[in-house]
Amino acid sequence: MVKSLMERLLGETFLRSVEQEPETASTNDRALRLLQDAPPVLPALVLADRQTAGRGRGANRWWSAEGALTFSVIVPGTPTAGESPAGNGSAPEPAIALWSGIATARTLERFAADLSVQLKWPNDVLANGRKVAGILIEVPSQRHDAAVIGIGLNVNVSLAAAPAEVRDVATSLRDETGREFDRIELLVELLRNLEHCLRRPNPLAETWNACCALKGRRVVVRRESGSLSGLCRGVDDQGALLVATESGVQAIRSANSVRAAPSP
Ligand code: BTN
Repeated sequence: MVKSLMERLLGETFLRSVEQEPETASTNDRALRLLQDAPPVLPALVLADRQTAGRGRGANRWWSAEGALTFSVIVPGTPTAGESPAGNGSAPEPAIALWSGIATARTLERFAADLSVQLKWPNDVLANGRKVAGILIEVPSQRHDAAVIGIGLNVNVSLAAAPAEVRDVATSLRDETGREFDRIELLVELLRNLEHCLRRPNPLAETWNACCALKGRRVVVRRESGSLSGLCRGVDDQGALLVATESGVQAIRSANSVRAAPSP
């Protein structure tokens, strides 16, 4: 007998509840609202075929089209790094985003062994050097005992339909391989990898740095407090980006953007 999507998600992954919508503004917004108004049994999944107002980090929007995977997983726990500077809740510790990226990368390696998969701190998964997935971790401001892990993965979409600024940096599994992927199989595998990675099975630095796109490159880090540049030494076990500057090695826990400096 063919199992339904719900049966598979609840029977073969760590999820205890699932909400599936054909369309929602943002699965992260929906997950945050659920936590406030009608908390589901955790871990919980919010899955949408389409987002009309997908969000990225900061003020960025997340472009996606039919054929992408867009979902949020609500996990219990208090993955906070203390009060955010704005005082409007807690800033998630960087490690949860990094482990979620590792789980996504492992999934891509399994389904598309011909891709070169790398991780760009803190929340980008790259395929052949271009962004194929993004991760947005949010902790609700009213309660600090759960986190929302939002993942957008460009699967069976073509970036030809994306705005120019997205097309310049992003890609999809289909664009890179010329193949179509079974999104449900990808999702089930990604959730299994996520469960494993959230247990933090290995030292984070060793795991991340093995596929860190920035390690050994000169980077420019922009923060509220100003910019700095230096040689990237990968990450530490807390998930901070290590940058060797003229005044020593700085451990960056959050940044507005990080770019690899153009080669001289
Ligand atoms: C980024 O790269 O800036 C993060 C992108 C995160 C996108 C996902 S799609 C599912 C979830 N819902 C959202 O609105 N955003 C995240």
